[in-house]
Amino acid sequence: MISAASRPYIDASVPVLREHGLTITRTFYASMFAAHPELTNLFNMGNQASGVQQQSLASAVFAYAANIDNAGALGPVVSRIVHKHAAVGIRADHYPIVGFHLLGAIKTVLGDAATEPLLKAWEEAYGSLARLLIDAEAKMYADAGVQPGELRAMRVIELVRESDNVTALRLAPADGGALPPFKAGQYVSVEVVFADGHRQLRQYSLSDANGKDSLRISVKREDAQADVPAGAVSTWLHQNVKVGDVLNVSHPFGDFQPDTESNEPVVLLSAGVGITPMIATLNRIAQVNPERRVIFAHAARNAAHHAHQADIAAAKARMPYLHVVTFYEDGAIGDALPGKMELARLPSWPKGETDVYLCGPLPFMQAQWNALLAAGAPAARLHREVFGPDLLDNLL
Ligand SMILES: Cc1cc2nc3c(=O)[nH]c(=O)nc-3n(C[C@H](O)[C@H](O)[C@H](O)COP(=O)(O)OP(=O)(O)OC[C@H]3O[C@@H](n4cnc5c(N)ncnc54)[C@H](O)[C@@H]3O)c2cc1C
Ligand code: HEM
Repeated sequence: MISAASRPYIDASVPVLREHGLTITRTFYASMFAAHPELTNLFNMGNQASGVQQQSLASAVFAYAANIDNAGALGPVVSRIVHKHAAVGIRADHYPIVGFHLLGAIKTVLGDAATEPLLKAWEEAYGSLARLLIDAEAKMYADAGVQPGELRAMRVIELVRESDNVTALRLAPADGGALPPFKAGQYVSVEVVFADGHRQLRQYSLSDANGKDSLRISVKREDAQADVPAGAVSTWLHQNVKVGDVLNVSHPFGDFQPDTESNEPVVLLSAGVGITPMIATLNRIAQVNPERRVIFAHAARNAAHHAHQADIAAAKARMPYLHVVTFYEDGAIGDALPGKMELARLPSWPKGETDVYLCGPLPFMQAQWNALLAAGAPAARLHREVFGPDLLDNLL
């Protein structure tokens, strides 16, 4: 909660922050990393380089300012942040550092407009959001039975080339202990330490169901494009990991958790490597409720880029009411339809009462989300996972 004295300053500064938000966040990161270079081991420096993380923190600050008294609207944003923070190991003592540099950046960018009362109001607002996140994260760590930042040594017991650029890694606890529990849809952070000693974490959705003797992740190699360099961690994993190696991996977290235990029909829509949480979901449903009605639609560039075909074939063999629809952008092959995924080309389902889960690149998600809303699906029935900071602000 924000005091009555501070509220008018927060309300008045929301439009100003919207205007300068990105500059403020950039200034904030630059000053924080200069003062605390060790934090570059915690943050995703790929997101920093491409600018997406800057946008994401800016949108969180706006969302908070705009909804300062509206816990209901903030809920989903906070939940996503808390899971992500837990997966990277954010600690309570990190918050004053971020607060100091964020306030400093607001002051620098707003100049004379950053009056004492305005800065006080933002200090209070930041403090109140920080408290909320710290408490929620403490609960996440306690429920998971881990310390902030704790990673588990996992041995790579199998590598399967799933497509031209996706390799699946099976991971078993190196100490032979029990696997952590998880829900289909959740992800782990994987640690990579490069030759220069720099350390990075990336999240990978678990791509198989619970109840097995190992975890599985499926990593797409992000090759260099004309204007962007190759992805650091995915390329490293593809080039270096061998069976028998040990990777440090976080406890599973993530609030994208398709309901695998219900009997209701369900629709799973994915594109590209966004197939991973959907395969975990499908495999879990095949385990616990093979008679369930499931529409599983996936879009890939072509058959060579279509990962996890064996999982789909195995699920089909077990699930009489599974309806699989595949789209290949490069043209039809076998049962696959040509072109991009289109809602009109999927079997119909009662839009008002069916949960739809989506995962894939942002343009895919945006197109499906808008088409689903236009077809009468209520937003409350739509659930999405974004493989990066969630920038679909307009969809919140
Ligand atoms: C919840 C969640 C689940 C995920 N699940 C999966 C999964 O199941 N499978 C999977 O493969 N991935 C998954 N990801 C994505 C994964 O975490 C990584 O983001 C991905 O592997 C890329 O990481 P990287 O280190 O290879 O690339 P990075 O080095 O982080 O680069 C990311 C992108 O930014 C571009 N880039 C880098 N530097 C610059 C620059 N200077 N200017 C412009 N662009 C630049 C790169 O070309 C690349 O395309 C998931 C992400 C999240 C958040
Ligand atoms: C009130 C304070 C904070 C807010 C509003 C905030 C907001 C966010 C948001 C919106 C994301 C992206 C979530 C997504 O995946 O969509 C994120 C991720 C992240 N945050 Fe925070 N955060 C706060 C505090 C902190 C602190 C104190 C730290 C540690 C110094 C931190 C480190 C990170 C890291 C490492 C990520 C993962 C993404 C990346 O590596 O770039 N955050 N945060």
